[in-house]
Amino acid sequence: MKTTQFVLASRPYGMPTPENFRLEEVMTEDIKHDEVLLKSWYVSVDPYMRGRMNDTKSYIEAFQVGQPIKGNVVAKVIESKSDKIKAGDIVIGTLPWSEYSIENVERLKKIDSRNIPPHYYLSILGMPGLTAYIGMIDICKPIKGETVVVSGAAGAVGLVAGQIAKIKGAIVIGIAGSDEKCNMIKEKFGFDEAINYNTSRSIRKDLAKICPQGVNAYFDNVGGAVTEGVVANLNFRARIALCGQISQYNNTKLPEGNLIMSWLLTKSVTLQGFIVRSFPDRYEEALTNLARWLNEGRLNYTETIIHGFDKLPDAFLGLFSGKNKGKMLVEIE
Ligand SMILES: NC(=O)c1ccc[n+]([C@@H]2O[C@H](COP(=O)([O-])OP(=O)(O)OC[C@H]3O[C@@H](n4cnc5c(N)ncnc54)[C@H](OP(=O)(O)O)[C@@H]3O)[C@@H](O)[C@H]2O)c1
Repeated sequence: MKTTQFVLASRPYGMPTPENFRLEEVMTEDIKHDEVLLKSWYVSVDPYMRGRMNDTKSYIEAFQVGQPIKGNVVAKVIESKSDKIKAGDIVIGTLPWSEYSIENVERLKKIDSRNIPPHYYLSILGMPGLTAYIGMIDICKPIKGETVVVSGAAGAVGLVAGQIAKIKGAIVIGIAGSDEKCNMIKEKFGFDEAINYNTSRSIRKDLAKICPQGVNAYFDNVGGAVTEGVVANLNFRARIALCGQISQYNNTKLPEGNLIMSWLLTKSVTLQGFIVRSFPDRYEEALTNLARWLNEGRLNYTETIIHGFDKLPDAFLGLFSGKNKGKMLVEIE
């Protein structure tokens, strides 16, 4: 059957543009034994995909020019040649940005969407929720009464990370890119304070004013100048969960030197970079607690759902200009 898919048209230099993607019409192959025909339903767009657009070696392989972009997708099973997954089931997997696709059932996971919205498996009960849990609980280790700062605080990961620190009794300060987002994280998600990094003249001074007691743990999603401002306020033996560096993903030059190293040394800071997929043994506990906190109403969530398959590149590019609140997803009708 015919389907449309997005392929990588060219590798970006700096900020990616719509021209780096190309829409193609292709024929799907016939379904073989143990395979299913899938219709994509919710497609996740994620900052890490920017790294895959470069031709560099990393913890995940690069996209190839002319080949489909791939990411996490929730899909409906249209036809099946497997006993394990049937037509009508809902599955999650790493799938192409394609309306229809064929996949071996061993690479798919069936999901239960009776009581859980299916898109939650791509957000709060999926990779971003797991990342927030592992980074906050295992690395930031918040203690009651301590002060925790989260950058990228209004996004898919940051929103959950900040709320987990609140559940653990910490004072939580979020850093985000607009007054609207800052108000949202305080009013709807219980953050104690927020700083708009786009209007702040000095993150370092603003943070020092808000928390003269200093910062005990920092969940870093963005890096760059925001992180320099936070690190200058860290207390002795503070912890940093180095989750993401989105402010640096479109750099065309390597930054010179590193302003934060001396601070890390003199404050005896523990910094741990982490990639969520390296912690599969932590998933069960994380998902159990995230689901429980959701049920108890202690954890809230929001998503930005864009409608239409053709909007995939725009949704992805929107991550770099802060178009999303919570998880950015594309729904394909
Ligand atoms: N380590 C892991 O395993 C892992 C897993 C998932 C995600 N991550 C990383 O975690 C971070 C957040 O991911 P996410 O999925 O939750 O994305 P997200 O926060 O939902 O979306 C990206 C957000 O980044 C902010 N941003 C964009 N450009 C920026 C810049 N130059 N400076 C500061 N902020 C900027 C924007 O919000 P504003 O409006 O606030 O600017 C945007 O909404 C990313 O760095 C991602 O790569 C790591």
